[in-house]
Amino acid sequence: MNGSDSLSALAAATGAPAHVRHARLLDWVRDIAALTKPDRIEWSDGSSDEYDRLCDAMVRAGTLVRLDPVKRPHSFLARSDPSDVARVEDRTFICSAREEDAGPTNNWVEPGEMHRTLRGLFDGSMRGRTMYVVPFSMGPLGSPIAHVGVEITDSPYVVANMKLMTRMGAAVYDVLGEDGAFVPCVHSVGAPLAPGAKDVAWPCDAKNKYIVHFPEALEIWSYGSGYGGNALLGKKCLALRIASVMGRDQGWLAEHMLILGVASPGGEKRYVAAAFPSACGKTNFAMLIPPPEFDGWRVTTIGDDIAWIKPSADGRFRAINPEAGYFGVAPGTSYESNANAMETLRENVIFTNVALTDDGNVWWEGMTRTPPAHLIDWQGKPWAPGCGRPAAHPNARFTVAAIQCPSLDPEWDNPEGVPISAFVFGARRSDTVPLVSQARSWEEGVYKAATMGSETTAAATGKVGEVRRDPFAMLPFCGYHMGDYFDHWLRMGSRVSEPPEIFSVNWFRRDADGRLAWPGFGQNMRVLKWMIERCAGRAEAIETALGFVPRYDDLDWSGLEFEITQFVEVMRIDSAQWALELGSHDALFERLGDKRPDALMTERARLEGVIAM
Ligand code: GTP
Ligand code: SPV
Ligand code: MN
Repeated sequence: MNGSDSLSALAAATGAPAHVRHARLLDWVRDIAALTKPDRIEWSDGSSDEYDRLCDAMVRAGTLVRLDPVKRPHSFLARSDPSDVARVEDRTFICSAREEDAGPTNNWVEPGEMHRTLRGLFDGSMRGRTMYVVPFSMGPLGSPIAHVGVEITDSPYVVANMKLMTRMGAAVYDVLGEDGAFVPCVHSVGAPLAPGAKDVAWPCDAKNKYIVHFPEALEIWSYGSGYGGNALLGKKCLALRIASVMGRDQGWLAEHMLILGVASPGGEKRYVAAAFPSACGKTNFAMLIPPPEFDGWRVTTIGDDIAWIKPSADGRFRAINPEAGYFGVAPGTSYESNANAMETLRENVIFTNVALTDDGNVWWEGMTRTPPAHLIDWQGKPWAPGCGRPAAHPNARFTVAAIQCPSLDPEWDNPEGVPISAFVFGARRSDTVPLVSQARSWEEGVYKAATMGSETTAAATGKVGEVRRDPFAMLPFCGYHMGDYFDHWLRMGSRVSEPPEIFSVNWFRRDADGRLAWPGFGQNMRVLKWMIERCAGRAEAIETALGFVPRYDDLDWSGLEFEITQFVEVMRIDSAQWALELGSHDALFERLGDKRPDALMTERARLEGVIAM
């Protein structure tokens, strides 16, 4: 057989459309089909007809509930299996050839052994189902900084979500041509159907889940879950874990960061990238609406979860959002806390694990002050206020295309990215960490990001509310050794002539009575304004053990009653709390062993000296 004969034979064997001319892709699809044994193969074209057809079929199958066409046009509710509601960090693996390349903060299994395990799990895993081939681009289609992935999945819910979250569809094959690079992503819910067996609304493997990355082969395999980052493989798996490895090798950064623009009254525009752990306020900050007194200030949104950041010839870092949609936390989202998100969610949304109202709409905790008198909860059970259960799952989410966001920045799709003036690192801390501080050097900033601690949230399975170290908000998402990652960040500072300023923030500090000490949300504009003015060399600050901080009068308080005593409380650096904090920094560095960078140990020693004031 000559090359084109074999290509035709492959295309025929896999049912590929004529314009797919990529032998390696066809080969791979054939191999995965032979392994997983689906009833049929569908090549996804990303069209709205296809989306509608899949959603209609999911409504018939009970996977989706169609919401009221007037109140929530073209929108759906999915209820997941109660065992499949969040990322599974303990089932997430980085299978590098050498264990030390995965490092102590990742689960590691020898690649050969993991491949054997996966072959066992995927053997026949798609029986009775349709296998979809889903081509997607992270980043603008055809742009030199984009990366293409192809996800094979047996979940139509995943296909529909990928359509909203990525640039997905047939045009990707033109970019790939005959031998373009792509990241192979294999996904199965792990619930084969016996002949004639009836399907369930949310198939998954309740007991066995594997989210696996092969950083040398640049390959992803995911088994047993249909939810979020476990299953939408372009997001955490490709754009963070695999991309972080590419960034290490190629000199760029893949980060768990929102990107926002700030326009000031003088017409100046700056961009900020901010890393907060999961469910700690990235979407809210990215879509911030300034208080009315901040006339002429406007915040615009580039992205709410992931940033790819590269040094550019102009001496600055430029950042793109590789995604094309939001998979955002629903609970707590309201017209008060995030009106831009609420407007984004008017139509064309897939909601997952929120509550259903009697009139075919959605509700979640915090959406309105008074809950409806009756709901169907996220598990499909009748719900009434005071029944003792949340109506929406705490990690309930919405999936929606970015183009629907009223605060979307005009540059959001620019393949060149936007220049970054500041990096912000924030975490959820009831105590210890002040509202805002600014690092005096790149090394000090990297130290603070590296040692960040945060209270765990419902975004991952496991205990909620426990403080753990979450370096750069990347603990669950770094595809290699955390010590090497710190080193990479330290080096990247000198890759540009104008490195961004580095700030730390904490919106979550509580007072002695356990109440939030900072109003947060739109009020965070006061802190953002100070940070922007610091970048421009216009705002004042004083120096403390943790770097530069504003005095009360350095922040703009117009329109808010916030007393100086309250300010002192949210800015307090308590030496007893910091002694404990330094102990947990040490525990993290201990785990990194030989790979803890010297520059960070120097920072650690300096902090010891200044913190005991
Ligand atoms: P992932 O999508 O999981 O990566 O998270 P995210 O960082 O985008 O989370 P999101 O912005 O959706 O955060 C949701 C949670 O943070 C909700 O519980 C919000 O109420 C809370 N939140 C966001 N901003 C603030 C704030 O300024 N103050 C307080 N107190 N809570 C906030
Ligand atoms: C996160 O957990 O940080 C998310 C949601 O952004 S998920 O895509 O499920 O990982
Ligand atoms: Mn996230």
